[in-house]
Amino acid sequence: MRVLRKIATANGIVRASALRIAVDPDRREAGRLIFSSNLMSVNGSISCSSCHLEKFGSADGLPNAIGVGGKGEGVARMNSGGSILPRNTLPFWGRGGKGFNTFFWDGKVASQNGQVISQFGKYAPSSDPLLVAIHLPSVELREMVADTSQIRSTFVSEDVSAADSIQSALATRFAEDSKIGPKLANAYKTTRGEITFAEVADALASFIRDEFRIQPTRLENFVFKDGAISKAELAGGIVFYGRGKCSSCHNGPYFSDLKFHAVAMPQAGFGKNGFGIDEGRYNVTQDPADRFLFRTPPLHNVTKTSPYSHSGSLPRLEDAIIAHFDPLRLAETRKMSIGERANLYARLGPASREILPSALSDTDVRDLVAFLSMLEFDTRSSVQ
Ligand code: HEC
Ligand code: HEC
Repeated sequence: MRVLRKIATANGIVRASALRIAVDPDRREAGRLIFSSNLMSVNGSISCSSCHLEKFGSADGLPNAIGVGGKGEGVARMNSGGSILPRNTLPFWGRGGKGFNTFFWDGKVASQNGQVISQFGKYAPSSDPLLVAIHLPSVELREMVADTSQIRSTFVSEDVSAADSIQSALATRFAEDSKIGPKLANAYKTTRGEITFAEVADALASFIRDEFRIQPTRLENFVFKDGAISKAELAGGIVFYGRGKCSSCHNGPYFSDLKFHAVAMPQAGFGKNGFGIDEGRYNVTQDPADRFLFRTPPLHNVTKTSPYSHSGSLPRLEDAIIAHFDPLRLAETRKMSIGERANLYARLGPASREILPSALSDTDVRDLVAFLSMLEFDTRSSVQ
């Protein structure tokens, strides 16, 4: 047990309180209202909370997210005919915490040496990567903007000036809203007439930063306060930091190196690059060496955010672990089209160059799941 405490600390686990950034309560409250307001979408039909829901661990419980046109939640949403986004919705745990600097599956928003790299280029609306990330959903076609010819002709394209004109229209709506407008003006010591999208995004960031902050877990309790651990959890911890090599990527305070790696997870759905293909990080850098790499997912509350992988192809946590060392076990190669098989083989190459475990037993996998459950926020804890 002492060994596990030591190795967990060496691999970057810290107390939840060390990651916390305090927020202004008035800004947080304005952000809370904005988060679940349909005013955020151009046609008034969808809010951030349509896809980031409490009961699915701040994601949506679906393989691929359903954007504008979608109705309801969970499976009902999947069958409602909305536009499909080709990626699995990411949960928010820890996204606004200290040092969390790389956003989205492909890291399309990231900060390096205090500078934010994103599709906004030198027009980045902030030097805080969370704030920049928050600027994207409201202007992505299919996510919160309907992809119609009228929208296309009004807003031309997803470029910076189009984003600007959508967002100033949205800011005006929030300013004019009888509930949200006064709260925003008060929180930012300004008048309703002067509210811009910068305040709207900052309020949202304050809410996300606080609501989804990392909270104490049973693992923290075990490492720092001599808390209890079961036999399976202990065995899983030893595999996680040892033979399983999990901590060579899932390390640091968020259980992610916030870097990009290839794991040949099965691909589901249309894919970001179409026809069942998602080239991941390559979409951002255009560097062939980045093909099929994705940001290592952080692991807090991972037991609650099924389905797994960038395309949500794996409903079971066990299978998400198995995909790291035996991807072919999960692939029904005979049922795949030639294209799907070719895509799988293409992804096995980069994965074979990663430091991944060679083989784990079913017991190892079960123990790992037990260990990962220690990363759930500990609701019995009254601290924070
Ligand atoms: C249609 C569903 C949908 C809606 C609506 C939506 N999101 Fe998301 N969100 C996603 C998906 C899918 C991803 C992952 C996309 C990717 O990485 O390519 C994501 C990722 C994110 C991330 C990055 C998290 C991380 O781990 O890096 C942030 C931040 C975020 N969303 C904020 C918001 C905010 C703020 C709103 C409201 C303005 C919003 N989202 C509305 C589906 C949605
Ligand atoms: C080489 C780096 C690396 C190693 C080592 C590694 N992972 Fe991962 N892990 C990733 C990446 C990258 C993904 C996302 C892949 C994707 O979606 O295409 C991932 C995904 C996951 C997921 C799914 C998370 C989600 O939200 O979808 C879990 C769970 C997970 N890893 C646990 C583990 C465990 C347990 C081990 C050790 C047996 C391990 N990982 C070893 C990089 C790694």
